[in-house]
Amino acid sequence: MAPSGSNKRSCPSQPTPAPPSKRQQRAPATDDGDDGDDAARGHFHDSGFWRDAPVLTGSTKFAPLADCKNILVTGGAGFIASWVVRHLTLTYPHYNIVSFDKLDYCASLNNTRCLSAQPNFTFVHGDITSPPSVQAVLRTHAIDTVLHFAAQSHVDLSFGNSYEFTTTNVYGTHVLLDCAKNCGTLKRFIHVSTDEVYGEIAEGNADCKESALLAPTNPYAASKAAAEMLVHSYWKSFKLPVVIVRSNNIYGPHQFPEKVIPKFTLALERKLPLPLHGDGLHTRRYLFASDAADAFDTILHRGTIGSTYNVGSSDEVSNLRLCTMLLQQYGHDTAAPGFRLADHVRHTVDRPFNDRRYAVDATRLRELGWRQKVGFEDGLRRTVAWYRRYGERWWGDVGKVIEGAFPVVVGGVVVSEGESESQTVGGDNVLEEKAKRTVGRESNGVEEKRSTVNGEVNGIDIKTATTIKRSTEEKKHVAKNEIGLELGTKHKASIGKKKTALSVGDQ
Ligand SMILES: NC(=O)c1ccc[n+]([C@@H]2O[C@H](COP(=O)([O-])OP(=O)(O)OC[C@H]3O[C@@H](n4cnc5c(N)ncnc54)[C@H](O)[C@@H]3O)[C@@H](O)[C@H]2O)c1
Repeated sequence: MAPSGSNKRSCPSQPTPAPPSKRQQRAPATDDGDDGDDAARGHFHDSGFWRDAPVLTGSTKFAPLADCKNILVTGGAGFIASWVVRHLTLTYPHYNIVSFDKLDYCASLNNTRCLSAQPNFTFVHGDITSPPSVQAVLRTHAIDTVLHFAAQSHVDLSFGNSYEFTTTNVYGTHVLLDCAKNCGTLKRFIHVSTDEVYGEIAEGNADCKESALLAPTNPYAASKAAAEMLVHSYWKSFKLPVVIVRSNNIYGPHQFPEKVIPKFTLALERKLPLPLHGDGLHTRRYLFASDAADAFDTILHRGTIGSTYNVGSSDEVSNLRLCTMLLQQYGHDTAAPGFRLADHVRHTVDRPFNDRRYAVDATRLRELGWRQKVGFEDGLRRTVAWYRRYGERWWGDVGKVIEGAFPVVVGGVVVSEGESESQTVGGDNVLEEKAKRTVGRESNGVEEKRSTVNGEVNGIDIKTATTIKRSTEEKKHVAKNEIGLELGTKHKASIGKKKTALSVGDQ
């Protein structure tokens, strides 16, 4: 492995704003003449300000694979996949990179617009839950390698909107697997999973190796574990050449600000208190996105088909510690006698269940030559600097995402909980109607409407109903429990209980 130096490259795009390239629109053959839905139209609008931003990638470079030419990256306009797309496109000009994304609320074409002029980059607007769309993109681009990132990825949303998680994460993965099996040209299918499939790991317990039992505790993690079962079955039944990757938390520039680090950063930017779930003592291990891009590059080039790889950081940080570190970035002297963290934090109700910690053992990946290069303090500093400069503009108006304790998504846009509630309680649900209209008109880019696959908009009624319930309960709960920083023991009894759930034979 030869490190290729910096992970910050100069922007290879044109110096002056130009109309968006066809490479970043719906594929010409797939445009059905509809202008598309409101949300997608927003994504295609290019204000050009991304040109000012650094082009961020990983830093690894390997000898090209002989059997790899055309790589499909699903979810390529999202956070982690866009790091991988930028990295692969710019590091390996002889690979053709096809970014396939439905442009959900959390996506941004700004994440990959810097690649518009690259001859080896194409963006295709499409949905992994649509077999015709997936078949078409695999066939049209003679795909031999799939890196499957597309997912509903936000745990908070999965408590109120879990059908959408099953549809995208399980059914969408199934569609990809089956189309990949049938296309006959596939050499590698790298499936991106998460450390959350292992469930909660008690403090003091050994880090999970890839052979550990899967015991997910929230609907997001369960959908990712279920997807893994399908991936594993396609390996066993059909010899589809799969690799599974389970990563801990990734952070860095380009992450939609529903996730804790960008959300808290932008809250501080707006001089708002930090909306902390529960007691703040939950910990997560955080890996900077360039190290994650290197991990996927390493697994692509050196991973063994049929294997599973954990991607793990050495930096474990509690949410309270994260708040302190972020406040320091904003110039607060957190060691000063008068400083009270409580003055800067707004405690919100916790998730219905919130794993205390996760812990994966990444020895197997390190044996391939991968190393974590960016420590948490350094990565956090770089991340905060990026969000201070670009965060408020990158995705458009993110106010409702930053200000709400739990964001709510209806019809591909983030709405506030109050908005969701008031527009439903009246009887005629304006947002629901908007969502139905939007999805009904949605172009999947490959001559296919989503409604023809799923029949109708999945989960809108349920999503709306559970949103109202949670919102009301949350208000009551918060009113009853003004949670203090010293709380922190109530979950301990639930940690470390014997795992009995799913087992996946590790390869
Ligand atoms: N972010 C993390 O810390 C983390 C940690 C471990 C694993 N993961 C996994 O990594 C992957 C990427 O996570 P992320 O945080 O970058 O997510 P993200 O939410 O930023 O991006 C997801 C992307 O998938 C796209 N997408 C969603 N549904 C789609 C569909 N039906 N068809 C096509 N595209 C669709 C979205 O438009 C978006 O661009 C996910 O599989 C997630 O489970 C994330």
